[in-house]
Amino acid sequence: MITTHELRSKYIEFFKTKAHAEISGKSLIPENDPTVLFTTAGMHPLVPYLLGEPHPAGKRLVDYQKCVRTGDIDEVGDPSHLTCFEMLGNWSLGDYFKKESIAWSYEFLTDPKWLALDPRKLSVTVFAGDENAPRDEESAGIWKSVGMPEGRIAYLPASDNWWAAGPTGPCGPDTEIFYWVGEGLPPAGSNKGTDSANWMEIWNNVFMQFNRVDEKTLVKLPAQNVDTGMGLERTVTVLQGKTSVYQTEVFAPVIAAICEASGYAYGADSEKDRSVRIVADHVRSAAFIVGDPKGVLPSNVGAGYVLRRLIRRAVRHGRKLGIEGLFLRKPAEVVVDNFKGPYPELDENRAKILDGLEAEERKFLETLEKGEREFEKMLPNLLKNPQKVMSGRLAFKLYDTYGFPIELTLELAAENGMTVNRDEFDEAYRKHQELSRAGSEGTFKGGLAEQSEITTKYHTATHLLQAALKRVLGDHVAQKGSNITAERLRFDFAHDAPMTPEQVKEVERLVNEQIARDLPVAMEVMDLEAAKASGATALFGEKYEARVKVYTIGDFSKEVCGGPHVERTGTMGRFVIQKEQSSSAGVRRIRAVLE
Ligand code: SER
Repeated sequence: MITTHELRSKYIEFFKTKAHAEISGKSLIPENDPTVLFTTAGMHPLVPYLLGEPHPAGKRLVDYQKCVRTGDIDEVGDPSHLTCFEMLGNWSLGDYFKKESIAWSYEFLTDPKWLALDPRKLSVTVFAGDENAPRDEESAGIWKSVGMPEGRIAYLPASDNWWAAGPTGPCGPDTEIFYWVGEGLPPAGSNKGTDSANWMEIWNNVFMQFNRVDEKTLVKLPAQNVDTGMGLERTVTVLQGKTSVYQTEVFAPVIAAICEASGYAYGADSEKDRSVRIVADHVRSAAFIVGDPKGVLPSNVGAGYVLRRLIRRAVRHGRKLGIEGLFLRKPAEVVVDNFKGPYPELDENRAKILDGLEAEERKFLETLEKGEREFEKMLPNLLKNPQKVMSGRLAFKLYDTYGFPIELTLELAAENGMTVNRDEFDEAYRKHQELSRAGSEGTFKGGLAEQSEITTKYHTATHLLQAALKRVLGDHVAQKGSNITAERLRFDFAHDAPMTPEQVKEVERLVNEQIARDLPVAMEVMDLEAAKASGATALFGEKYEARVKVYTIGDFSKEVCGGPHVERTGTMGRFVIQKEQSSSAGVRRIRAVLE
């Protein structure tokens, strides 16, 4: 029986025989993209190349990429949804197109030398056509020529067969490949269009030909590309004749560790089984997020907050299984051991993962105890209420002040013969969410964690720094990353060699000169295209809104940016570069302070 690790290797090997270069997958935490917290698809790190930048490894690439998607976190626990998964991908950057892509997918899936799947259990979908692109008879024709019966080809609209990375960015029609997970053989004429439940998607070949610039504008890409994504866990599930990803060796040992900790026998109760699966999924995601080279620890913002939610949700479901104390270390260790081959960073960060998860677990258990104590204190008063209803306001207070989850308040109330005014709680919760979302959107748009006065100054200093670097080193200097705290700025940029001490001095001098000139900082909102045409610096491959803010600092700098910035440079203080070092291949990092 083929394992996950074997499937990953076979995929890479197959595409190498088709002259693809293997490239390594990237971090789970995307660089230069404040619009998303995690790498959500295999194509995500390749966006700049799909948009036309040449890739150093060539035009045919193959890789495997870890991804995290938390959008459908509430569906996790069913047979196929995961918050962390791997995508196998092969890529054509303006090289081959539909014909080879489809023929190779079919060969890899059905050839006895490769996956040897039963062709009778495969079906596909192609794009039905709309104002953006015609009905994809071409792909359908290629499918027929490799042996796909007409009745197994469904033409579906853009909602199914048009793939885009986000509201803007590269996109195009796709053809998706499905495997029959129903009983026996699929009836003649059955396909995704006629029977959505029994066909499981395993592979998606996107024919990336367009760049969505804004809601109304779709422009042709310089080249016709192919982006395919095969879901590793799902494909291994069908290859092993299983019906759920949780039955494969990706999860079975994790599930065993959870059952050992709880004493619960998997399979005894469907609700509890679901809790086990949720814990298994979340532990795996948490281990991958902490163990990433750019990994984060639990916090109240951004990726750290998602991680916190995953761990806390795992703990809550652990309690449903009867686990009172700490238990995540063991299943997390199983994940590390299982995946350290393809992802050596998990092993390198083993202690950080195990200790990080446990620290958060401990913190949450304390929160729960505190919340329970507060509830006990409220209880005598609550019991005086003749209707035996706890107000939503009080339940929200437990949540807001002590971080005590509403589900647990409901449980405690029920144990004491009470109900909770859920509508009132939901209303308070909704208001709270709206407020914090508005707050965090502002934060992400500006790319700053904290918009205090000092970070605003650092933000403006970063613009001056980038403009000074371009003047001293050349126009190739492009921002590769930026991070600002109240103590310093850090700026990563493309440049091949270490800077000389003279260059560092000159950059520093130029920035201080602009500060001394007390230049005004002006902001203008314009169309992205107009902004670029006006010479404003914008991050390559960045997903921008259609209308963007452009900040101009005197005659020295012009950049597309969310802000905020100081009004005049004279208020910023003295700019000092503390360090210039390598960040990664071809990328330098500057650390600087304002004194
Ligand atoms: N971008 C497509 C997907 O994520 C294929 O890789 O499904």
